[in-house]
Order: sequence, then structure tokens, then C-alpha cells
Amino acid sequence: MTVSVVPSQSVSLPQLEIAGGRRLSGEVRVSGAKNSALVLMAACLLTDDALRLRNVPPLTDIAAMGDILAALGVTVRRGDDSIDLQADRLNQTSAPYDLVNSLRASFFCIGPLLARTGIARVPLPGGCQIGTRPVVEHVKGLKALGAQVTIEHGVVSAVVPGRGHRLRGGHIHLDCPSVGATETLMMAAALADGETVITNAAQEPEVTDLARLLIAMGARIRGAGTPSITIVGVSRLHGADNAVIPDRIEAGTFLLAAAITRSTLRVAPLVPEHLGAVLTKLEQAGCRLDSDGLGMTIRADRIQAVDLRTQPFPGFPTDLQAPFMSLLATAEGNSVITENIFENRLQHVAELQRMGASIRMQGNIAFIEGVHRLSGAPVQGSDLRASAAMVVAGLAADGITTVQGLSYLDRGYADFEGKLNSIGASIRRTGG
Ligand code: UD1
Repeated sequence: MTVSVVPSQSVSLPQLEIAGGRRLSGEVRVSGAKNSALVLMAACLLTDDALRLRNVPPLTDIAAMGDILAALGVTVRRGDDSIDLQADRLNQTSAPYDLVNSLRASFFCIGPLLARTGIARVPLPGGCQIGTRPVVEHVKGLKALGAQVTIEHGVVSAVVPGRGHRLRGGHIHLDCPSVGATETLMMAAALADGETVITNAAQEPEVTDLARLLIAMGARIRGAGTPSITIVGVSRLHGADNAVIPDRIEAGTFLLAAAITRSTLRVAPLVPEHLGAVLTKLEQAGCRLDSDGLGMTIRADRIQAVDLRTQPFPGFPTDLQAPFMSLLATAEGNSVITENIFENRLQHVAELQRMGASIRMQGNIAFIEGVHRLSGAPVQGSDLRASAAMVVAGLAADGITTVQGLSYLDRGYADFEGKLNSIGASIRRTGG
């Protein structure tokens, strides 16, 4: 007797059902950058005046950040693709644990709260699926700006001593170029007394976007986008109206969706400089890329193996490592992917193996032997980008792939299946 064990999936859990093997075509629109919008929202805490952000993506993480700001007393009004924020009646300097716990990025509030009010209490964000994610650099930097910081019972309490409770400029050298620490410290230093220099700063486009907003609010900042950022503190910042940059990770995911289905697709808006390392790897893999100023057209036919290592910007972004692995699982030849940023960010390997990928792991390195075709299977996304990787793999797989773990996906991709269906995919959301 043969007994077959088929993984069962509860029909009530939300999932995407992807009928693979279809070519994509046409043009897909990229939303505003989640990671940029989240930090720009926190910047509203720096001023009494109204802040309007445009090109804000409709994502659950954005709604969660709005809830956290509202709990601090910020007036939050959501429009179609804009958000209006006004922190003229802050009534709290403590962020609520439940809300912070649901969104790591809410730790951003500590910098501007401290700079504006001289006191801030924010629960220590927990680890997450991809790794421990410490905030040592953020805390070290705030201390260098004159704050007294204690961590007790899971809460980071920061206070600026002295009359006036104003942070003072200082020199901060980051031991690692943390994106969150650079952004937190830029916001804190914007209202500090005197000059702050951050060295070994993160150079990600989201850091530059924050600097652009802060400058529009009256801050004096030089060097954002380089490893050394100088901020001359001002006593007051004012309101601004600013558009969020396009999401480079969403754009990269669509390029990979086109590549894995061997399609021709235009992805816009897309800033090529934000995706330099990814575009280089796609070209090395055999894709043709043509930039037209606003967008990028990708033409993919045969895909060759390539090796890549994740690194801080301008290196290859960790957030596109998982979907790039889906592509390489179907490439001709053997590829090696090394994950250098987060210690637990290769959980999608096991799921890709369930779809027929041939991948061997050794620590933080994945050795991928390309296969002719992946086969559809029930799979689970273990974090935001791993979920996207599963969808990308499902687009090219034989038969039906069902992807669970959509709460992750909805945190970072606006109407992912709607956008993919509009360019020829066949994806259905069921359950939930
Ligand atoms: C941001 C992005 C996230 C992206 C990551 C790396 C947001 C909301 N999230 O996260 O999507 O994957 O950048 O590009 O913008 N580290 C320390 N000590 C610290 C802080 C960080 O060792 O005090 C290490 C981390 O463990 C990790 C690396 O630095 O290995 C990068 O972390 P960081 O740049 O801080 O990432 P986030 O800002 O949390």
C-alpha cells in the first residue's frame, strides 16, 4: 500500500493561489517606498507645523505607524496617496508597547521625540524573523548627543539633562552603517545645539530621502548619501510638503518577476541609481535593461548563474536577496548567494526546495544549482521578502503554488497580486 502525505492547508487562512508559467507584459507602477515613508512620518514629531507626505503606499505598516503617532497625540489624516500629520498637541512621550512591538520601525520615534521634548520612552523593539536587530548604535549615538539613556524592563528611557533639555551636537562614529541608527540620529541632531558629524553613516536612498525632507523643514544637513553626514542643529523646524521616493525594493521585485518568467516588462517609476547593484547582477544574468528616464524596461530570455553577496548600500540589498534566489533557482549553472546583513535570512531556502529548487546551505551561504523548471507547491513566507520570493517563484513554476504568510506580504507590497495580474499573472487571494 502506498501512503502519500500531502501537506494540508487550512482553507480559512488567507493565501495566494498562483497559476504559474505565464509570461508578463506591459507596464507596472511602483508605489512609494515603505521604508522611506515610515521614517518620514516619524519626522512629523520634530515640529508643531503640519507635514504633508505624498506618494505614501497603502500598507499595513504605514497604518501601524499612523496608530503609534496618533497614540502620541499626533493628528493623522490619510488621503488617497497622501498623509497629513501634525504634532502640535503631543500629549505623550511614551510609545505604547503593543503598537511598537507590531512595528520595529516605530523605534524611529525616539530620536525626534527626544530632540523636541527632552524626554522619550520607547519599548525596546523585539527581534524579528530575520534576526535579532539590535539598537545599540541608536542608543550610543543618542548618548553622544548628551542624552541619558537607560534600558529597564524592556523600555528605553532617554532624557536630556539640564535647563532647556536640548541635545548638543557631537561626533558619532557608527560601528556598522545602520540605516535605522543613521536616520534616528539625523532627526535628533537636526534640533540639537551645535554641529553633529555622523561617520560610517548608512548611504541608503531612504537616508537621503529623509535628509531631503528635513532640509525642506529647515534643517541644515550636508553629506547624506555619503559615509559622513554633517548636521548643524537649528532651534526650530517648520512644516513641509514632500513626495516619498519610489520603492526600490518593490521595483526590484517586479524586475525579478519579469526575469523569472522570461518576459519583457516596463517598471516605473524607477531610479536606476537606487538599484545599481541589482541592475548589474540582472545584466550579468543575461537580462537586457533599458532606462528611459522615468522607468526601466527589462527583457529576459536565458538566465545565467551569477554570484552575489548582500552588503550595505550601494552593495546588493538584503531585501532583494530572497526574490533573486528564486530567479537563480531557475538559471543555467551554479550560483552562490552570501547573506551578510541578517543572520536568519535564508529561511526561504527550505520553501524553494519544496518547489524543486536545488539549493545547499552552509551557514549564511546558499549554493544554488539551477533547475529547468520549478514545480508549484504549497509554501509559506517566513518574512516579508521571503513571501515575495515565494510569489516570484510561483509565477514561473509548473502548476499551482499556494503562498501563505500574507500578513507579511501586505506589510510591504501594495496590492501585489492586483499589480501582477494587471501584467498577465494569474493570482487569486482566497481564505481569511
Ligand atoms: C532597514 C530596513 C530593512 C533593511 C535593513 C538593511 C527600514 C524600516 N528597514 O532596517 O528593510 O533590511 O535596513 O538594509 O528601513 N546592527 C547592529 N547594531 C545596531 C543596529 C544594526 O549591529 O545597533 C546591524 C544589524 O544587526 C544588521 C545591520 O546592522 O546586521 C543592518 O541593520 P540596520 O541597517 O539597522 O537595519 P534597519 O534599519 O533595522
